[in-house]
Amino acid sequence: TRRVRTRDLIAAKERGERWSMLTSYDQYTATIFDQAGIPVLLVGDSAANNVFGYETTLPVTVDELLPLVRAVVRATKHSLVVGDMPFGSYEEGRTQALRTAVRFMKEGGCHAVKLEGGRRCADQIAAIVGAGIPVMAHIGFTPQSEHTLGGYRVQGRGDSAEDVLADARAVAEAGAFAVVLEMVPGEVAKRITHELAIPTVGIGAGPDTDAQVLVWQDMAGLRTGKAPRFVKRYADLAGALTDATRRFADEVRGGDFPTADHTF
Ligand code: KIV
Ligand code: NA
Repeated sequence: TRRVRTRDLIAAKERGERWSMLTSYDQYTATIFDQAGIPVLLVGDSAANNVFGYETTLPVTVDELLPLVRAVVRATKHSLVVGDMPFGSYEEGRTQALRTAVRFMKEGGCHAVKLEGGRRCADQIAAIVGAGIPVMAHIGFTPQSEHTLGGYRVQGRGDSAEDVLADARAVAEAGAFAVVLEMVPGEVAKRITHELAIPTVGIGAGPDTDAQVLVWQDMAGLRTGKAPRFVKRYADLAGALTDATRRFADEVRGGDFPTADHTF
């Protein structure tokens, strides 16, 4: 089958079919997710935390992300690959945003870009879409603005629900093909999902969005320690890898690896 297109995702919404998105930053996970039928892979700026070991997403650069984008694109046949524009690469306005989006498409080879912000980024979204590049928006809690938002907090509780709604309308109006809703109350996400013609992709936004996204290391239990409430671990990769690592080290120490089987 051919590569997923943005129009397939809109058609899925019209049919009431839900779909899933995962982050991916490397060849092996991209191949596995592609073959497992995940229609959209996001090379997230969450690589800052989950690949490069930064405390926040703020430090990661376009130059750091582009090689990861290329790896994921090369490893996939079906998934639509979205490149996440990092902090500092689009805030200045239409020109900077378009220049960065073009780099992601030309040098990264991805099929769409993503950026954070609702009404305040409508201009940038319109400029990128106007150049023929699909844009996924991201509203609600936006990690690149954590210092303004006061840390990881649910956005759109009470009266501020109208703000999230206005952001959702603005990005749809600007031409985004989908919008990530991060950490917004389930009822608000449901309202937005019903109102917009484009798919909503929830993370910590309840069960009523058109799609769901998780960071793959959270989904597969590679990241240990306390996870946000919206995470579900579908595997214990940290446990499996720790176990394999210990057995390898033990066998080397004990002279049990390698054996004649592994020897030329
Ligand atoms: O960078 C990322 O991982 C994201 C998703 C969680 C939506 O932006
Ligand atoms: Na991101």
